[in-house]
Amino acid sequence: MHQQPATVLWNHIVGPNCFRLGLSCQRGFEAAVPGQFVMIQSGPALTPLLRRPFSIFGVIGTPGHPEGIEVLYKALGRGTHQMAQWTPGRTVDLLGPLGRGFAVAPEARRIYLAAGGMGVAPIRFLATHLIAGGADATGIRLFLGGRSQEDLLCADEFRSLGISVTLSTDDGSAGLQCLITDPLEQAIRQAPPDLVCACGPHGMLQCVSGIAEHHSVPCQISMETMMACGMGACLGCAVPAADTQAGYRHVCVDGPVFSVGQVDMG
Ligand code: FES
Repeated sequence: MHQQPATVLWNHIVGPNCFRLGLSCQRGFEAAVPGQFVMIQSGPALTPLLRRPFSIFGVIGTPGHPEGIEVLYKALGRGTHQMAQWTPGRTVDLLGPLGRGFAVAPEARRIYLAAGGMGVAPIRFLATHLIAGGADATGIRLFLGGRSQEDLLCADEFRSLGISVTLSTDDGSAGLQCLITDPLEQAIRQAPPDLVCACGPHGMLQCVSGIAEHHSVPCQISMETMMACGMGACLGCAVPAADTQAGYRHVCVDGPVFSVGQVDMG
């Protein structure tokens, strides 16, 4: 983990209030793992005061020679609206990579990826990482859901990797009109995968965890929570452990990726 200045390379709008931010940075990302995150100071030192967590969306550069990273973010609050104004050349404060990412065993062949809304960010990094590592794209399926069509980001990128994509929306504006967990469960029932990897809103992860447990399929989920420090110091990201003897787990250092059964999803 490094703290370093990073330079904005690009800050493209890719959907309503959604941006891809490219950052040039010198070190620390040689061994970055999908699911890990960075903390970015989104404004001047006073307001907003704290850094904000962003999943790594991708590593820029050639394998083994990272030159920077990309994050995907939605301009929702004051800090991210400030970020939306950033232009190439600006220097920002970056901390990372942080946390524990996805751990995919080399023998895993059939892998189902499930993403809800902005949860697609670490899942996109995971997909590119798997393919770059030699995984067979025909064994990987993506289940991508959102409220409406504009929430479905990056579907074409997955397709261009050779990954089969199933879409769903709440309003039926794209793909199936249902929760993305419906086609996911159907696929698990028809052809159980070696691993399910998911990221999205808590309710979706609750559902994915339940489906995986019901069908006895290994599953890893990347949790999204508020984080103030990102390093285990503020205790603001604690979630209850599934094993009550274990007390709490900290999403920033014990996660954000957990195997199903490690945390109590409520
Ligand atoms: Fe501070 Fe996790 S964000 S302990």
